[in-house]
Amino acid sequence: MTAILAQDKTPTLCTVPRPEIADGEVLVKVKAVGVNRGDLLQVAGHYPPPPEVSEVLGLECAGFIEDPGTTSRAKGEEVACLLAGGGYAEFVAVPEGQLFPVPAGWSMTEAAAIVEVAATVHSNMQLAGLKAGDTLLIHGGAGGIGTFAIQYAKALGCTVAVTAGSAEKLDVCRQLGADILINYREEDFAEVMKNKCNVILDIIGAKYLDQNVRALAMDGHLIIIGMQGGVKGELNIGRLLTKRASISATALRARDLADKARIVADTVHTVWPMLADGRINHHLSTELPLAEAAKAHQMLKEGAVTGKIVLVVA
Ligand SMILES: NC(=O)c1ccc[n+]([C@@H]2O[C@H](COP(=O)([O-])OP(=O)(O)OC[C@H]3O[C@@H](n4cnc5c(N)ncnc54)[C@H](OP(=O)(O)O)[C@@H]3O)[C@@H](O)[C@H]2O)c1
Repeated sequence: MTAILAQDKTPTLCTVPRPEIADGEVLVKVKAVGVNRGDLLQVAGHYPPPPEVSEVLGLECAGFIEDPGTTSRAKGEEVACLLAGGGYAEFVAVPEGQLFPVPAGWSMTEAAAIVEVAATVHSNMQLAGLKAGDTLLIHGGAGGIGTFAIQYAKALGCTVAVTAGSAEKLDVCRQLGADILINYREEDFAEVMKNKCNVILDIIGAKYLDQNVRALAMDGHLIIIGMQGGVKGELNIGRLLTKRASISATALRARDLADKARIVADTVHTVWPMLADGRINHHLSTELPLAEAAKAHQMLKEGAVTGKIVLVVA
């Protein structure tokens, strides 16, 4: 089958064997695959797949069940899938616990753009205890994670502040419901949000650590899910302690099967009704053929898109 592998630090179209399914897995015929920043890191050699996971890129997809294996699923069922790898391909083996229903009325490309962001944002906001009336600061509000997180937090009844690097991107955030818009190239978000944030969803890491702690309110919770600004920072523990604040850092891909199945079930239970009634919509900005994966990666790297890019498998 055709698939995309990282070769010479470039996403490259290759021919590889069709995956074998293990007990409890289904074989999915992939129709569309979401592009994630983690895919770029994998191509650059900084984010290898977990042990025994395919070297083929791809952390989320949507398609049809080709072979239900030992599960009770039906051949031909439409599914969206959370993956540890393998989605940039014609077929992928998926543990049953990582299957989502395709939201009613959504296309395969739309469904492929929602799985990773929904599971990541929902699981982390639960960890933070985000609730109605809270103020949430989202860094990178116009990105894949950010465009979902804005809508999710507004659906919960939160006040949402975002950072982004241009007026155009901030306008996208405003249209999705963000209340406080901060251009990080022009303003210090820590000054604007000083002591106000009950929760911060951070993708920058080290570079923002001190500013994030300054922006936290009493009992605030900083959740770090990305390290776009480095891995080693200096933490003012005194400031953290005075605010009774917490910091957590999580990664979805590295979780075990049981933990992923729990997150998937919980995300379907809580988030899928929000998709069904339109409180949350996909924010899909670009569709490209699978063979143009390198172009999709370049667009994401350059920050040329808002929301998600999806690759379509012929
Ligand atoms: N831990 C996990 O389980 C998990 C799961 C999914 C994703 N992630 C991570 O989450 C991060 C975001 O993913 P994504 O898919 O949303 O990526 P994305 O679509 O590329 O979005 C990233 C956004 O960050 C913005 N940005 C860049 N530098 C910034 C800065 N200094 N301050 C504020 N915003 C800045 C960019 O826009 P501008 O042009 O405005 O700069 C861009 O819109 C990535 O690092 C990814 O690896 C982690």
